[in-house]
Amino acid sequence: MPYSLDELAKDIKDILKDHGIQEGSDKVCYYVQKALMDQNFIQNNLKDRDDQNPREILYEDPELGFCVCGHVYNQEANGSPHDHGSSWAVYGQAAGETEMTEWEIVKKENDIKLVKEKKKYVMKPGDVKFYNVGDVHSPIRKEPVRLLRIEGKNLDNVERSKIKEL
Ligand SMILES: [Fe+2]
Repeated sequence: MPYSLDELAKDIKDILKDHGIQEGSDKVCYYVQKALMDQNFIQNNLKDRDDQNPREILYEDPELGFCVCGHVYNQEANGSPHDHGSSWAVYGQAAGETEMTEWEIVKKENDIKLVKEKKKYVMKPGDVKFYNVGDVHSPIRKEPVRLLRIEGKNLDNVERSKIKEL
């Protein structure tokens, strides 16, 4: 059965309304994975992008504020440790691989979070991961990748924490 962007947005909205993200994150991940398994969904929604602007908001919910985003990188893209401020996020790997590192917050100095490496893993096509509010992570992408990402709120408007590696 083909799966559409509208259906994904509706499924996520239903979960958030019925359960909230803390109880419903596994279910959100399930539906993101369902979209990733559908090659038509990937082709229709994760189209080629300019590297200056790899992120596209595919859907923004007017009521709850969550966003379904596509990220398409044509070349190596390395992120430093970050959180998403007051937002959670679900990362879904559609194509290529992401080497993800999770970081533990050891202490806070003033408003800076000091972190050390906790674990590392490779996300392959079909893999989905939930990052809660405040979870610190850093993605390394050495090859072209396509990602489907759900943001709890539009990250264009969210201030990130200041983070430093120990
Ligand atoms: Fe992130």
